Amino acid sequence: MSDKKRVLSAIQPTGEIHFGNYFGAVQNWVRLQEEYDCIYGVVDYHAMTMPYSPKKLRENTWGLILNLVALGVKPENLFIQSLVPQHAELNWIFNCFCSYGRLQLMTQFKDKSQQAKEKSEDNFISAGLFDYPVLQAADILIYKADFVPVGKDQDQHLELTRMIANRFNNQVGKEYFVLPETMHSEAPKIRSLADPMRKMSKSAGEKHYVSVFEEEKRLRKKVMSAVTDSGDLIGTDEMSEGVDNLFTIIKACGHTEAYDQCMAAYKDGSIRYGDFKTAAFEALHSLTSKFIENKAEVMANKKEIKNQIKQSSAEIRKIAQQTIKDVKELAGLMNVRF
Ligand code: TYM
Repeated sequence: MSDKKRVLSAIQPTGEIHFGNYFGAVQNWVRLQEEYDCIYGVVDYHAMTMPYSPKKLRENTWGLILNLVALGVKPENLFIQSLVPQHAELNWIFNCFCSYGRLQLMTQFKDKSQQAKEKSEDNFISAGLFDYPVLQAADILIYKADFVPVGKDQDQHLELTRMIANRFNNQVGKEYFVLPETMHSEAPKIRSLADPMRKMSKSAGEKHYVSVFEEEKRLRKKVMSAVTDSGDLIGTDEMSEGVDNLFTIIKACGHTEAYDQCMAAYKDGSIRYGDFKTAAFEALHSLTSKFIENKAEVMANKKEIKNQIKQSSAEIRKIAQQTIKDVKELAGLMNVRF
């Protein structure tokens, strides 16, 4: 076993990856691979909690795997959640270490249950959606992760994860689970360009997110029409959410020179939002064009990558199996080898 600290994170296969996912999490996933023992999941059990199509789910799962590889995630660090069913087993056990009252406080459930209602024909909200954070705790604790790189929207789920770990440890009388720490990037909350009061997300619709593979023309249109403000705050110490978001994006793209220039111009009152948006477009375009190129290469090796993922999932499953064995022992369940 390596003595490196372990990092665990995951993403749902619900369609395209956008720059919120990238700057909030995936960019960090890629960087952390050098220094840590990293495990990254495509969590298809989670994606079943909202109304969904089975055929599309499998397509999206493979699609997301290939996209993550194109963004720089190593195939040997990736697994598909349903190939490691121990997550679901630990989910059940953790259900009995998590209070119903705590789950009722989860803000994501409040937002998502509303969306589920709107998406389904019969106002259907699954029990899985309510229980979602407990499965997320199982995803993290099953690998005894030290760090969890995620966006700001996951803070509450991480808090719950630590609470479950604590309760389990207390009840079985052993410090078995590590309490994982949240790891934020410098851009833990990317906002929608069309409506900076909400976060960038797929569920709000096409205009509220920018894909990491966005085609140039569409990218230009989305960035150039980004909502800023009337310009009243230019030259002051204050900044609107829309302007702040564009600055965050330029910086996260690594365009520090453009960032410094625009920031100086904002402060001395000479900034023009047209030029500022052009700088943001150029910063994003330098990434999208690289990712699109990588994607073509990945697609040419699609079959090989899929085989690698099946293998890495089997390797990662061994860690999960050991945890389940320990947990069953500690929790008073049966552990018989048939
Ligand atoms: P998901 O699939 O919604 O998003 C994947 C990652 O992207 C981050 N993110 C953002 N960061 C900054 N700004 C945004 N606008 C933005 N939108 C999304 C998310 O915070 C996340 O890190 N519940 C998780 C998936 C999950 C998970 C886990 C994560 C399941 N099990 C275990 C960590 C550990 C989710 O729905 O992420």
